[in-house]
Amino acid sequence: MTSIKTVSCALVGLGNVNRNFLRILELKSTELARRYQLRFHIVCVADSSGGAVDPAGFDPAALRRFKEAGGQVCTLPGYKAGATPAELLSALRCDLLLEASPVNLHTGEPGLSAVRAALRCGTTVVLANKGPLVLAYRELHELAAGSGAGLAFSATVCGALPVINIGQRDLVAAEFLGLRGIFNATTNYILAEMALGHSYAAALAEAQRCGIAETDPTLDVEGWDAANKLVIVANSVLGLDVTLADVQVQGITGVTAEQLVRAAQQGATVKLLAAAERSEQGYLLSVRPTVVPADSFLGQCSGWEMGIELHTDLYGKLYHKIWEREPLPTAAAMLRDAVNLLAA
Ligand SMILES: NC(=O)c1ccc[n+]([C@@H]2O[C@H](COP(=O)([O-])OP(=O)(O)OC[C@H]3O[C@@H](n4cnc5c(N)ncnc54)[C@H](OP(=O)(O)O)[C@@H]3O)[C@@H](O)[C@H]2O)c1
Repeated sequence: MTSIKTVSCALVGLGNVNRNFLRILELKSTELARRYQLRFHIVCVADSSGGAVDPAGFDPAALRRFKEAGGQVCTLPGYKAGATPAELLSALRCDLLLEASPVNLHTGEPGLSAVRAALRCGTTVVLANKGPLVLAYRELHELAAGSGAGLAFSATVCGALPVINIGQRDLVAAEFLGLRGIFNATTNYILAEMALGHSYAAALAEAQRCGIAETDPTLDVEGWDAANKLVIVANSVLGLDVTLADVQVQGITGVTAEQLVRAAQQGATVKLLAAAERSEQGYLLSVRPTVVPADSFLGQCSGWEMGIELHTDLYGKLYHKIWEREPLPTAAAMLRDAVNLLAA
């Protein structure tokens, strides 16, 4: 009989994404043990109020219900007053960090310190939070290589669409001639709603209600979320060494209903496109509202869909898209990364 491996986990951030991770554990723990011989045991949690530790393990269902009812970690037994997630991770040395705190493009915190601390002590790290990767992609990979820790982040780009996995694993020896994608569902939904005559504000409110919008939605509408994803794809798939400063960024706040109507009259549609275009100087990276034919692949990625076109020398043109209206698939992408790194 195969023995079950217990994976001690820390969850940093207990918002839409990690609460859905808890939901998956409720639904799939038997399946995870049967198919992958893994049992996830949550020993550390952190939210904006602080962190708590319970070596006996937090019950996923009870923890999810506690957070959904507005509970704060500082009121849990095991609360460690004044301790940062990084300090807790260094002391605990658990097997897995699931990092899903808000994006902070200025300091990367609290995620960046938590990820550094985990990688230094050999803890496998799975991220939904793009901030640490955008600010310190190379450094984090060097830390992981130094300690032998796993590091995965397929949930950071287009939710559950396995863009990173396909780009890194499946297109062996490919040269990338370019890529274009719709990387942000919130803005894609807003543009689709505005084209139907609905208001920008109502569409953004609906994206927030569904848990799809960023904690700070200006990251979505001003193009930074898509730019973050483009930086991660450029570093991980295209093999570049770039930061946000290398991306020309324009969001959708200047797009008017009149522009959308005019595009529709011409058989076109406006999309917030992230693109890496090859030129003689290297790749040109941009995020900007772009008019595309309505019957093209990206023109037909509408509403809650995100998609990517990859243009390669060996594998031709690849077109991938996903429909995602809630954070459950993103949480599933974190599970996918964890299982891929930890299963025997
Ligand atoms: N939502 C999606 O569909 C999606 C998809 C892909 C990637 N992501 C990424 O996943 C991450 C989480 O997204 P989300 O939708 O779950 O966000 P969210 O609902 O706003 O939740 C953020 C969580 O982080 C906690 N937090 C805030 N400051 C903290 C701190 N200093 N230390 C520890 N925890 C802190 C919050 O605490 P409180 O509970 O106390 O407020 C909350 O639990 C973000 O980086 C986002 O970009 C999200």
